[in-house]
Amino acid sequence: MSAQIPTKFEQLFKKVDELKPQFIDVVAQAVAIPAVSSDETLRPQVVKKAHFLVQQLESLGFTDIQLKPLGLQPPPVSNPNLELPPVILSRYGNDPQKKTVLVYGHYDVQPAFKEDGWDSEPFELVVDEEKGLLKGRGATDDTGPLTGWLHVVRAHKEAGVEFPVNLITCFEGMEESGSLGLEELIAKEANGYFKDVDAVCISDNYWLGTKKPVLTYGLRGCNYYQVTIEGPQADLHSGVFGGIIAEPMIDLVKVMSTLVDSDGKILIKGVDEMVAPMTEKERKLYDNIDFSLDELNKASGSNTALYTKKEDILMHRWRYPSLSLHGVEGAFSGQGAKTVIPAKVIGKFSIRTVPDMDSAKLDELVIEHCEKAFAKLNSPNKCKAELIHDGAYWISDPHNAQFTAASKATRLVYGVEPDLTREGGSIPITVTFQDQLKTSVLLLPMGRGDDGAHSINEKLDISNFINGIKLMAAYLHYYAESKEI
Ligand code: BES
Ligand code: MN
Ligand code: MN
Repeated sequence: MSAQIPTKFEQLFKKVDELKPQFIDVVAQAVAIPAVSSDETLRPQVVKKAHFLVQQLESLGFTDIQLKPLGLQPPPVSNPNLELPPVILSRYGNDPQKKTVLVYGHYDVQPAFKEDGWDSEPFELVVDEEKGLLKGRGATDDTGPLTGWLHVVRAHKEAGVEFPVNLITCFEGMEESGSLGLEELIAKEANGYFKDVDAVCISDNYWLGTKKPVLTYGLRGCNYYQVTIEGPQADLHSGVFGGIIAEPMIDLVKVMSTLVDSDGKILIKGVDEMVAPMTEKERKLYDNIDFSLDELNKASGSNTALYTKKEDILMHRWRYPSLSLHGVEGAFSGQGAKTVIPAKVIGKFSIRTVPDMDSAKLDELVIEHCEKAFAKLNSPNKCKAELIHDGAYWISDPHNAQFTAASKATRLVYGVEPDLTREGGSIPITVTFQDQLKTSVLLLPMGRGDDGAHSINEKLDISNFINGIKLMAAYLHYYAESKEI
């Protein structure tokens, strides 16, 4: 470490290095709880993980810890009495002389099964010191980064360095399923629990590539839909009924095939027209970003890219909408050959939204499109298209006190100037914080672009974990010192 580094950072960073085994142990305990928000049967596990985090917060000396209930999960849902997982509010420090930073993270995770192709049990954290990796569901999305904030507090306490800001946590358990219920809570607490918040920081995205740290100022939104097609009362034998009844699965495949082309073009009329036009100023921003087709191919583990030029790839990830087909509930998906005609199938797809798309208008266009496509089939089956959840896109100005503090922190920890990026993914609640709390939001990622969030063998590099904790700490100090809010 060079001589110019202030002593407080030297002390803090040394402590972070010393506490590495303890920090990893907390991640391991958290990852061991399969908090999958989309699986209704696993809801008790999501709640269990909330309680685990509360224990951690208590032991660190956080105060005013509240598990906020969000009521019942709205339809469509199988169990109409299903409670949404609680939001964890807590504070560390309450000094009116200090700035207040709200940190948001999510403790729920995506589903994971060893059979999907994992090399190890997804809910048992593997600490691979040789490769320098933490592997397990949630390692990078978002259990590792979320616990990072707790480790920052612990490092301060054990190093005897004064905490520079008042910290407020808002940890939710429903992010992977559209952050249901959270918007209302934030609106309600804007003048309550969140009254004094000066800035919001979210660590729930990734570097663009694998080497260069980034700060992020934009996200796409996500509107998630389902199309249900029902016919016979129960699944049927295709030898007995094949060819003489209308099959829901055949209708569904037809309807879903009208949504998007193999080259990624969205076929729903009126969608492209809502996208903000490109300006020269925006076009220039792509020139300086460190990225290549090669990195995309490495991250996807294939040569399946639709574009070859860096600019085209980034624009289609960041500033154009995309439509993905995700799956079919109720369809036969097991091994082997089952001669079944599924009685009811539910097709799932989503559209990533961008400025200036209007979410309600999009829903109208999508639902009408599906209804028309189904009507053309003249099928006696029943079809219903509906929205499951929507999360707004977000874009902000990356030149404010928070981003400046985070750039300085990046230079301190990594010795480089971060790239300023947008993301193709979504964190639905980001814009709500910005609008309701009237604060700026900073996305400060911990992991890398090849971490495999939502995929098999999800990992977080140990160096990103440890440097990420230092980065969070340094950002809080520099932000605390900055003159503007
Ligand atoms: N951490 C991601 C958001 C993200 C994804 C940021 C990719 C950057 C790149 C978050 O947990 C997530 O997966 N969000 C969902 C939200 C959706 C369910 C509304 C997503 O993007 O699919
Ligand atoms: Mn996430
Ligand atoms: Mn995710």
